[in-house]
Amino acid sequence: MAKKTVEYICQGCGACYSKWAGKCESCQAWNTITEEQSPDLLPKSLNSRTGRQISFVNLTDKSTDTPPSRMVTEISEFDRVCGGGLVPGSVLLVGGDPGIGKSTLLLQVAAAISKTGKCAYISGEEAIDQVRLRAKRLGVNDASVDLAASTNVRDILASLDHNDGPDVAIIDSIQTMYVDTMESTPGTVSQVRASAQELIRVAKRRGISIIIVGHVTKDGTLAGPRVLEHMVDTVLYFEGERGHQFRILRSVKNRFGATDEIGVFEMTDKGLQEVLNPSALFLANRQGNVSGACVFAGVEGTRPLLVEIQALVAPSNLATPRRAIVGWDHNRLSMVLAVLEARCGINFAGRDVYLNVAGGLKIHEPAADLAVAAALLSSMSNTPIPHDTVFFGEIGLSGEVRNVSQQDARLKESHKLGFRQVFMPPRTGTKSNALNEFDCVEVEHVHNIVEKFQSNDREKLTA
Ligand code: TYD
Ligand code: MG
Repeated sequence: MAKKTVEYICQGCGACYSKWAGKCESCQAWNTITEEQSPDLLPKSLNSRTGRQISFVNLTDKSTDTPPSRMVTEISEFDRVCGGGLVPGSVLLVGGDPGIGKSTLLLQVAAAISKTGKCAYISGEEAIDQVRLRAKRLGVNDASVDLAASTNVRDILASLDHNDGPDVAIIDSIQTMYVDTMESTPGTVSQVRASAQELIRVAKRRGISIIIVGHVTKDGTLAGPRVLEHMVDTVLYFEGERGHQFRILRSVKNRFGATDEIGVFEMTDKGLQEVLNPSALFLANRQGNVSGACVFAGVEGTRPLLVEIQALVAPSNLATPRRAIVGWDHNRLSMVLAVLEARCGINFAGRDVYLNVAGGLKIHEPAADLAVAAALLSSMSNTPIPHDTVFFGEIGLSGEVRNVSQQDARLKESHKLGFRQVFMPPRTGTKSNALNEFDCVEVEHVHNIVEKFQSNDREKLTA
C-alpha cells in the first residue's frame, strides 16, 4: 500500500481527513481544511520488549527536593492570575485579539522578572528595534532583558537548552514559529502543535518557565488547535473592548492555581497600569436617577467586582424584536426574559431589548440573573433603582431565586463602596456580620421584585 504522506486538517478544530473538503464535518466551518504533511506515521504496533520499564514510586513517599519557589513579578495583578507567580518548568499560554496588548504586557513582565532572574524575550513579529522602541515608551528600557528576533524553533531550543539558559523565556507568538523538519507554513495546526511540543519539552527538562503568546480567531478561541490548550499548564486570556481602556487578564486553565481569576489593567500611553480597585473604576461614570441601570455585586475568581448592568426596553416595529447584548450571555438573557414572561406575565413581545455591561467587562456568572431582571423591569416601568442598591442571585426556570457562592465577599465589597441596600436570595444557615450593615431584601421568587416595580412606586423599592 502506498504510504500516506499528506493529510487534510481543519485549522479550526484540528480534525483530520484523508481528502480535501470545503466544509469541516466536525466543526461545520467552511474553507478551514488545508493540506499538511502528516506527522511521523506510527508503526503498526509497539513491541513491549523494546521498551524500558518505568520505575514507579509510591504517592506517600516524601519528595526528595523541595518544591521550587515561584518567580514573582512586581505586577501583582499578573502574579495573582498565575496563582502567585510563575512556576519553574511551567508553560503558560497568553491568548487575545490582535492589538489588545499582549506584547505590551509581556514586555513589562519581562522587565519585572529581569530584576530577580534571567529573562529572554523572543519576538517573531517585531524587529529588535521595534521592541526597544516600545520598551522606551513603557519606561523599561534599562531592564536587562535578553532580546532576540527569531522564528526557527531549532535555534530557539539551542539557545534555551544549556546550563546558563534563562529562567523565563517569552515567545511572541507561537503562530510565527516553525519547526524546519515540517513543510507546512508557520501558523498551521501542525506547525503550532509541533513548535509548542518542542518548547514544552525543553521547559520541563530545564525548569524554564515559558510564556507563549497565541492569537485568537474571530470567534474568540485560540487560533490553531485546541490541543494547544491541553498541552500547556496555564491558559490566560487577555480581553477587553477596543473602545475601552480596561483590559482583563483571565485565567481559564491553571494547573497551579485557581481558574476564573482576573487581573484588571488600564491601557495608558505608558503601557498597562494595574487597577487595584476595579469596582470603583467600573462604577465611576454612573448617572443618578435613570431607569434601567442596576449594580451587580459579582465575583471573578476570588475577587469581588461591582459592575453596572444597563438595560433598555423599547417598542419595536420588527416582526422579530431585537435582542442586543454586550458583555453577557445571549442564552441567559433569553432565559431571564422567558421566566419573566411565563412566570410573571410580563410581555416582551413587540419590544426590543438592549443589555450592556458598562466598562467593557464580560460577565460569565449566572449570579447576574437577578440584576439583569431588575434592570429590565426598571427600564420597562421607567422606575429608577435607588443609587445605593446592589443585586445578586441566580434565577431558576420556575422563577425561584437561588443562592450563589461567596456572598460575604460580595457584601463586603458593596459596603466598602457605599452601598446600603441589597436584593439577594434568601439566606440559609447562619447570618453573617456583613449583613448587619445592609437593608436586606430577600427575594424568594422573581415575582417579588416584579411587584415592587409594577406598583410604580419608588418607595416600595426600599426595604
Ligand atoms: P500590543 O501589545 O502590540 O498588542 P498585541 O501584542 O496583543 O497584538 O498592543 C498594541 C496596542 O496597544 C496598540 O493599539 C497601541 C496600544 N498601546 C498603548 O496604548 N500604549 C502603550 O504604551 C503601548 C506600548 C501600546
Ligand atoms: Mg504583539
